[in-house]
Amino acid sequence: MLTQKDRILAHLLKEKEYDLVEVEMQLFENCNLRCAFCSQDHRASLEQASLKSLMNKADLVKDYMRDHPGKDFKFNLMGGEIFQDHFSDEHFENLFALARRLREDCDAHGKTARFMFTTNLIFEKYGRVESLLDRISAELGPAQLATSFDFVGRNWNAQQRELFKANVERLRERIRLVGVVLHRLSIDKMIEQRDSLFDWLYQRVPVVFEYYIPDLKQQDLFSPSDEDNLRAWKFLAKNYPNVEPIRRWLNQEFNEVKCCSLNRLTVLANDTISSCRYFPYRPSDFKTPLDRFSISEMALKFIDEQGCLSCSHFNRCGLHCFVQADRARREQKASCFIKEFFDEALHG
Ligand SMILES: C[S@@+](CC[C@H](N)C(=O)[O-])C[C@H]1O[C@@H](n2cnc3c(N)ncnc32)[C@H](O)[C@@H]1O
Ligand code: SF4
Ligand code: SF4
Repeated sequence: MLTQKDRILAHLLKEKEYDLVEVEMQLFENCNLRCAFCSQDHRASLEQASLKSLMNKADLVKDYMRDHPGKDFKFNLMGGEIFQDHFSDEHFENLFALARRLREDCDAHGKTARFMFTTNLIFEKYGRVESLLDRISAELGPAQLATSFDFVGRNWNAQQRELFKANVERLRERIRLVGVVLHRLSIDKMIEQRDSLFDWLYQRVPVVFEYYIPDLKQQDLFSPSDEDNLRAWKFLAKNYPNVEPIRRWLNQEFNEVKCCSLNRLTVLANDTISSCRYFPYRPSDFKTPLDRFSISEMALKFIDEQGCLSCSHFNRCGLHCFVQADRARREQKASCFIKEFFDEALHG
C-alpha cells in the first residue's frame, strides 16, 4: 500500500528509478568467513536452508510480486555463504527448486525472471556451482554470480585468498560483478595502501562500490563520515575511473539513483521482509521514524536537506544511501559532499 510520501518520492525520482525490480533473498546467515563489517550471525543454524524454509520465502515473494507493477524481476539469492563445500548436493537441488518456483510465480504474474547468486567464492567444489548456473540458465532464465571484496574486513587466510583468486579465474565468464562496501576502515586502507589483489580484480571483473548500510551494533565504527565518502569517491575517480558508479557518474549525464530500495524487496533469513532499513535498529539511531516497508521519509528528508531539486548535478547524481544519510550520528558536512565531488571532478 503506497503512502502519500511514497507517491511524492516516486514522482520526484520517476526518471531516476531502476526499471528492474530486485528481490534480495537472504536464505540463511551461516557463513564460512567472518567479515568484520558484516552484521550476519555467521554461526547460525542451517535449518533455514531446508526446502520447506526456502519455499516459505518464495511465498513471501509471491505476495509482493502480485501487487507490484514492475515487469522484470531479478532474484538476488545469498546466505551467509550459499555455496559452502560441506553442503550436500541436495542443497544445490533445493536451490534449483527455489529458482524454479520463483520462475513459475513470475510466469503466473506475467513477469520475467533472472537470477544472481551472491557468493564469497570460498569453495573448492566449483563444478556443482557451474552446473547449477547452467541448468537454471537453460531452463529458467539467465543466471550469474556476484562476488565481493573488502580491503580490510574479510579475515581470510592466505589459502582462502588464493582460492578466491582461482575461482575468479575459473568462473570469470559467469561473474557479473564484484561488490566492494565503502565502510570507514576500508576507505582508510584503500587510500593508504595499494592492494595488489584489488588491482588484479580491477583488470578482470566489473567492480561496483556500494555504500555501507549501518548495522545495529557496529554502525559508529564502520559508518563513514561525509568527508570519508568524499575522499573515497575522489580517490577512485583519480585511480580507478572504471569502477562503478564512478564511470557512469563521470561519463553519463543522466544516471539512476544508487539506492535500489525504491524498487526492492528484501527477505531476511528469519522471514522478515522490508524495503531496506531492516536491522532491529533503535529509533534513536535515526533522524526519521523507523519504517520497515518504506524508505520514502528518509529519502525525502535527504533530498530536501541537500537541495537536490535545485542542484545542477541532479540528473547525473546517484544521490546517497538514504539509511546511512539518515543516521542520527552522521558526521555531516555543511554542504553536500557529492556536489563537491562533482564540482571538482567535472570542472577541475
Ligand atoms: C551478506 S553478503 C552474503 C553473500 C556472500 N557471503 C558475500 O559476502 O558476497 C552479501 C553482500 O552484502 C555485503 N554487505 C555485508 N554487510 C554489509 C553492510 N553493512 N552494508 C552494505 N553491504 C554489506 C557484502 O559485502 C556482500 O557483497
Ligand atoms: S562472506 Fe558475506 S556473509 Fe560471510 S561474513 Fe563476509 S559479507 Fe558476511
Ligand atoms: S550532488 Fe548532492 S545536492 Fe546535488 S543532486 Fe546529488 S545529492 Fe543532491
